Amino acid sequence: MITQSSIDQIFETARVEEVIGEFVQLKKSGSNFKGLSPFSEEKTPSFMVSPVKQIWKDFSSGKGGNVVSFLMEQEHYTYPEALRWLANKYNIQIEETQLDDQQKHAMDERESMYVVSEYASKYFHDILLNNEQGKAIGLSYFKERGYREDTIKKFQLGYALDQWEAFTKTALSKQYDLKYLEKTGLTIVKETKQFDRFKGRVIFPIHSMSGRVLGFGGRILNTNAKAAKYLNSPTSEIYDKSKILYGIYYAKQTIAKENNCYLVEGYTDVITLHQSGILNVVASSGTALTPMQIRLIKRLTPNITVLFDGDAAGLRASMRGIDLILEQGMNVKVLTFPDGDDPDSFAKKVSSEELATYLKEKPKDFIKFKISVLLEEAQEDPVKKADLVRDIIHSISVIPDRIQREIYVKECANLMDVSEEVLFSNLAQQIARGNQDKGRKTQQQTQQFEVVKTQQQTLPKINQLEKYEREIIKILLLYGNKKANFIDWIEEKDSYGKLKLTKETYENNVAQEIYLNLQEDEIAFTNPLFQKIYNTIIQQFNQKQEIDVQQLSQHEDTSLSSITSDILMEEEKYTLSDWERKNIFVKPKETHIPKLVTDVVLNLRRVLIVQKINEITAAFKENQQEKEKLEEIMNYTKLRKLLFEKLHRVV
Ligand code: CTP
Ligand code: MN
Repeated sequence: MITQSSIDQIFETARVEEVIGEFVQLKKSGSNFKGLSPFSEEKTPSFMVSPVKQIWKDFSSGKGGNVVSFLMEQEHYTYPEALRWLANKYNIQIEETQLDDQQKHAMDERESMYVVSEYASKYFHDILLNNEQGKAIGLSYFKERGYREDTIKKFQLGYALDQWEAFTKTALSKQYDLKYLEKTGLTIVKETKQFDRFKGRVIFPIHSMSGRVLGFGGRILNTNAKAAKYLNSPTSEIYDKSKILYGIYYAKQTIAKENNCYLVEGYTDVITLHQSGILNVVASSGTALTPMQIRLIKRLTPNITVLFDGDAAGLRASMRGIDLILEQGMNVKVLTFPDGDDPDSFAKKVSSEELATYLKEKPKDFIKFKISVLLEEAQEDPVKKADLVRDIIHSISVIPDRIQREIYVKECANLMDVSEEVLFSNLAQQIARGNQDKGRKTQQQTQQFEVVKTQQQTLPKINQLEKYEREIIKILLLYGNKKANFIDWIEEKDSYGKLKLTKETYENNVAQEIYLNLQEDEIAFTNPLFQKIYNTIIQQFNQKQEIDVQQLSQHEDTSLSSITSDILMEEEKYTLSDWERKNIFVKPKETHIPKLVTDVVLNLRRVLIVQKINEITAAFKENQQEKEKLEEIMNYTKLRKLLFEKLHRVV
């Protein structure tokens, strides 16, 4: 682990405008810099960097954050990887916290395995390009398949000599430890003898997201041999097939930029598509996609397009695997190729332009695709059609997003000519069953589903709440440390027993004022992110009597740092246009702060009270007997009126 003092030093030294300047062409614009968003294709700049605040914001994609989160977005680094990159750029020596012996040992072991694998990758690549047998057999094989020199170099393709111990001997002579040659599976040790795992095969090194060599796939050259076509590295501490996607290192940037990932089956599909200019493609390496692999893609995009091999038999089986992708909340499209072609062979038949057009225009929404395929199979057979309906609804039932499910059901009803009601009730059943399978409580979810319609009516109010919640965070970030004069209206009964309001003025910290107000009413935020940042801010404030905005915008939790820079950059947005110069945008004067605070708190209360009234009214309608409820409504209504008055009196 990197020590906090190293992290602080990195943040102190790194300049966000310098770092981003390496990736984006920035132009000075007032006190900020602006440029074209690296995360979308845009023609007018909406990407802003603030050297003063040391944050950035991309108004086209909505992303934003500090220098570290930029590297995480741009290069898809993890938090420590981004810190290391910066340390390297600014020549900062990183201090690590002490690992215990066991942790150290595990890390050393893995590190040694990476080192051996990296060496092997270079070795095989060198043999392919420079060794006589390598050139005559390996290189000519790749050339025959149409791979260009630059493609071969990019993917570090290699060749393993057709000898028993060519690689192992060379590696040992270079002082690589037999222990790690064996652990990575590159060498097979039998008693006193050692053999190369890969011999007489062309080699595809497999990289992690950050470009480390994890393992290898070796393809046999003579196709009539009995041996398997591909031989892969065995599972080890660094190579786990279920957590790896072939090509992700080369594809990550484009996947994020295009906001879509093409998924193919094999190594050769990835490479051929790359060579034809399609860079956002990865392979599951012949197996069904695992949840870990899906999560890798999800770090980059929620959209995935599955490219199917041509044969219809595999189609049905693969379709089942897709439910897993839907389950992860991803949007899935599918694409098939004409008569028996796979992505590799198809890409070779057509021009790059034709391929690009095909990949752009032909993908179909998975659910619709599934309906069309199954409908064709079922034809006019009602029994088959009933099965098909259940099958489709099953796919829909695994989609986590309720709104999306509802849209699909409606579409499905249309396409299959079945009533929506029937589909909805079957969906509810399947969701319940799915939950049972997962061993969860079923009732909650099905109920949730049944109340879809009534919940939708209250949806706008939830947004209204979130609006005020966000405003509170904004006020805390911008003015939290300021002192201001607040006014309160004290409720008193006059001599006739009527409620009246008396004015009282007092000075307080903005943060303190907000905190006390919310605490008084035990108000919790509906949006978990706002709640999280609110808690963090209040904790800070309680500890240091001050809100440290800098620290928030550098927070390790990227959801916190990004919402912080989001809010801070909001004002800067106006400098993108010429508004500021024309003086149209006026920042709120500090004298308005008390009103800002009081208004937002009162507004929040108002919305909550309205919600409460609605809830009670609904319950009351169901149960006419409950008189106390009526009283409660009346009390709340009174309270609402009072609040309304307050809102309009506070100046
Ligand atoms: N695969 C494997 N072991 C095998 C066969 C296949 O690991 N015995 C994996 C490989 O990752 C391979 C993918 O499944 O890339 C797809 O298999 P296949 O379509 O047979 O291979 P291709 O990559 O298409 O290779 P080629 O074009 O040379 O036939
Ligand atoms: Mn194939």
